Amino acid sequence: MDTMKALLERKSVRSYTGTPVTIEQRNQLLKAAYASPVSMGQYDTVELTVVQNPELLAQIDDTAAKRFGREKMLYGAPMLIIASTQLKGDATDNAAYSNTATIIENLNLAAVDLDLGACHIWGAIVAVAGDDGLKRSLKISEGFTPVAGLVVGQTADGYTDRDIPEGRIKTEILD
Ligand SMILES: Cc1cc2nc3c(=O)[nH]c(=O)nc-3n(C[C@H](O)[C@H](O)[C@H](O)COP(=O)(O)O)c2cc1C
Repeated sequence: MDTMKALLERKSVRSYTGTPVTIEQRNQLLKAAYASPVSMGQYDTVELTVVQNPELLAQIDDTAAKRFGREKMLYGAPMLIIASTQLKGDATDNAAYSNTATIIENLNLAAVDLDLGACHIWGAIVAVAGDDGLKRSLKISEGFTPVAGLVVGQTADGYTDRDIPEGRIKTEILD
């Protein structure tokens, strides 16, 4: 699949067959993450956590359900990849958030390329960030905050051409 095809066919997939992501697929996903640009090349300011342990996934789901009053915020996906970063609480956090979002989008496009379903996850990540015990269970390093995530899994919800509305993002072109 070429890049434009993956970009145009990508969609948020929220139904999974339950079949695990293979080790080869996981390696490919991580390769895409490691290929991501990171502000000033400071790769040690971001951290990835690949959660495939069903008990931990259920714990994250429960924590998110308690926080938002909604069940199954991970949609039963067999894998959640969490991107964590160091936040300072000032305007420079812009780069930290952008780094994680960029990595997650690389992962998402790689998932499309591998014919895996995937969806950016914000809600459940907020819930994890607010639970120090869960952060410890997930081995998220001290001083790092989970800020972005992606659920991934095999899906029957295949990718096809999508109609992308032109101009749906307000755009000023200043010639
Ligand atoms: C930063 C970010 C956070 C998101 N968080 C969630 C989420 O927590 N749960 C969810 O179901 N979808 C989430 N999404 C998916 C968006 O709802 C989705 O991308 C948008 O509605 C456009 O649909 P599409 O991805 O199918 O094109 C998120 C997307 C982004 C970029």
